[in-house]
Amino acid sequence: MDTAALASNPLREGLRSTRVVQPCVLVIFGATGDLTHRKLLPALYSLAIEQPLPPQFTVVGVARRPFTDDEFRQQALDSINTFSRRRPVNQSVWDTFSKGLFYSQTQFDDPEGYKKLGELLDRLDQERGTQGNRIFYLATPPSFYGDISGLLSSSGIARRGVENGPTGWARIVVEKPFGHDLASARALNDQLNTGFSESQIYRIDHYLGKETVQNIMVLRFGNGIFEPIWNRRYVEHVQITVAESIGIEGRADYYEQAGAIRDMVQNHMMQLLTLTAMEPPVNFGADAVRDEKVKVLRAIPPLSEISSDTVRGQYGPGLVGGESVPGYRQEKGVDPRSQTETFVAIKLLIENWRWAGVPFYLRTGKRLPKRVTEIAIEFKRPPYLLFRGSGADGLAPNVLSMRIQPNEGISLQVSAKVPGQEMRLRTVNLDFLYGSSFGVEPPEAYERLLLDAMIGDSTLFTRIDETEVAWSLVDAIVRDWNETRTPLARYEPGTWGPKEADMLIERDGRTWRRL
Ligand code: BG6
Repeated sequence: MDTAALASNPLREGLRSTRVVQPCVLVIFGATGDLTHRKLLPALYSLAIEQPLPPQFTVVGVARRPFTDDEFRQQALDSINTFSRRRPVNQSVWDTFSKGLFYSQTQFDDPEGYKKLGELLDRLDQERGTQGNRIFYLATPPSFYGDISGLLSSSGIARRGVENGPTGWARIVVEKPFGHDLASARALNDQLNTGFSESQIYRIDHYLGKETVQNIMVLRFGNGIFEPIWNRRYVEHVQITVAESIGIEGRADYYEQAGAIRDMVQNHMMQLLTLTAMEPPVNFGADAVRDEKVKVLRAIPPLSEISSDTVRGQYGPGLVGGESVPGYRQEKGVDPRSQTETFVAIKLLIENWRWAGVPFYLRTGKRLPKRVTEIAIEFKRPPYLLFRGSGADGLAPNVLSMRIQPNEGISLQVSAKVPGQEMRLRTVNLDFLYGSSFGVEPPEAYERLLLDAMIGDSTLFTRIDETEVAWSLVDAIVRDWNETRTPLARYEPGTWGPKEADMLIERDGRTWRRL
């Protein structure tokens, strides 16, 4: 095949090696907030060090505080020196980077403020050569999304449908939570649609920016040996765990409304599930990948036994590592009789040709013994136990575990012969660890996602249909919990959740993995 034919081969779409960022301005709404401070500014600085950004690249922070450009630059410097993986700041990179930082003060619903912002952006187009290309990043509470999107449009700062045009393009990046349920997600989308069309909207799920999450697709579709066994004939069941040792970290206002099912299951866990279970896409273009992901969600039947196939838990007070920690209800800002769950376990099925009958067990929670995210594919046992009496009878099955974080890597559990005269078997691990194999630190999720939004690649962002189907699954569970008044199962902090979660899986003759 000649090079021209290869370049135009649609199978290669999405794998283009040149990822060019055009001159543009990134406008961050909520520029004095926590997300900007901890994640966005440090990620932009890492990109400045690695230099995929053009010299014209410019950032405009927008918020309610009366900052000057210099005060905003000082805040950025503090963010980088505190949170960047490349800290402390390198003076010469900083000198160039900081010259591209500007600030514009406004209330998010004040048309006058948008007029000023528009003038600043026009001036920057002239002075810094940003060519009218604009990305608007909404790092504000979601209640402002509607106002911001509407005013960006009515002020003429952003043009709906103009994703690529002679006078520049506009894109909008929105953080989670994208709504509180299906109805509010649709209403929010309608609001965004007043200023932006679907192809201009980039819904962030930061899990998709994690290197290890992207590697799920590479492991599956970049190797010949896994796909043939990645189905109901060989897979016994799948477990997905997203465990956190932290509590709610002072976010009671948000968390009381969300709970673990909205905070983690509707978004991050559904992403892990769909990437694990999807069919090979026809190419790696944004729509091809997202088409396959959404098909997985659509193949999940409504849970028929929500009361037995789900567990909702809440941590009480207790001791962790010798220190006493408050229970969820004692956390600042939490209702002392709160019914919000901090732990969820779910058993679900995916009714399609590949997965019919294979259970997927999901669990996530706060104040569990450690921070660990893992997807484990447990395979069926060999059809005939040839090595009976050699320890093989009780041997663990083959498990492929994809460790998303920390100690990122992939491990395959197999049986091996113990050295010696006798035929004795034991389980061992074939391990791949990112750290030792590549010797470089992976980029932060936000670095990848910010860069993709600037390039205009939406593969790692959530499309509206994915968001909607995920909400309808979650809504059905929440509705049932509320209607049946499903009680909260209590668990001690520092444990793997309530005993009801063990019962959920043990009832099927299986156990949760010990991580
Ligand atoms: C966020 C949730 O989306 O993800 C938090 O709101 C959670 O509650 C966090 O702690 C986990 O992210 P990570 O990258 O630390 O696994």
